Amino acid sequence: MSKLKIALQKSGRLSEKSVALLEECGLKFPNGGGKLITESSNFPVEILFLRDDDIPQYVEQKVAHIGIIGENVLLESRKDISISEKLNFSGCRLSLAVPKEIDYEGLSYFNGRKIATTYPNILSGYLAENGISATVEVISGSVEIAPGIGLSDGICDIVSSGSTLLSNGLREVDSVLRSQAVMVSNKNLDPEIQLILDRLLFRIRAVRKAKENKYILLNSPNGRLEEIIRILPGMNSPTILPLAKEGWSSLHSVISEEKFWEIIDELKEAGAEGILVVPIEKMIL
Ligand code: PRP
Ligand code: ZN
Repeated sequence: MSKLKIALQKSGRLSEKSVALLEECGLKFPNGGGKLITESSNFPVEILFLRDDDIPQYVEQKVAHIGIIGENVLLESRKDISISEKLNFSGCRLSLAVPKEIDYEGLSYFNGRKIATTYPNILSGYLAENGISATVEVISGSVEIAPGIGLSDGICDIVSSGSTLLSNGLREVDSVLRSQAVMVSNKNLDPEIQLILDRLLFRIRAVRKAKENKYILLNSPNGRLEEIIRILPGMNSPTILPLAKEGWSSLHSVISEEKFWEIIDELKEAGAEGILVVPIEKMIL
């Protein structure tokens, strides 16, 4: 039987969350012990653990059918593969940074200077767009030490929490690109492989939807129900159950977490009481 081959980052910012996503989708597979290829026991997939920078090429060549990488890696690779789904995790930015003591006053600082990076394609494009002429020093890792050892004046690298920059005496001065984890796919998948991918994407969307939404329960005086329903942008029409307490009802609905914080005060003002917000594990629409 055919198997969908998925390439994941072996170690790095995306690896743990990529594995967790597949597990939340119900896939069981051995993980650990340094094995670079593994199979799921309950879903037709084979998982390859690779260097993230190599994944676009492997997906283009169909060594793997799909992969999970940062948009930054995809753009830098310039490979002809497609994005099947944005995954909403491992958000970061590709930024320019300089030693913290530098008196930086704008991009023109980089004119005639050297910038070390593992992202030469994206960086060169950005410099050209902004009319800056700088030398791009391409290195393959540990970019943060380049200014300290006299290799460059600044760097262009991924910043997430910012702690790597901080511990290397650097300061972020400009952001080139925002990025997040995406699922990439080969453009010519065989129909039976595409079917497996569609099944997996269905699960991924259910998991993601569930994370973005919460189940809300609240009590409301019957006279206020209409107003409260108007405040709650529900998944569908809310469920309303009578409470033992005369003249009161319990209202259940689904709400995006973000919206909840926006409308909590309105709900209280409208007379809602005993508001409970609980996580949803899976959400199939
Ligand atoms: C990036 C970057 C830094 C780190 C920054 O590496 O090169 O090392 O993340 O994160 P922080 O701001 O939270 O400290 P990445 O995970 O992309 O790995 P790779 O470049 O080695 O593939
Ligand atoms: Zn990498």
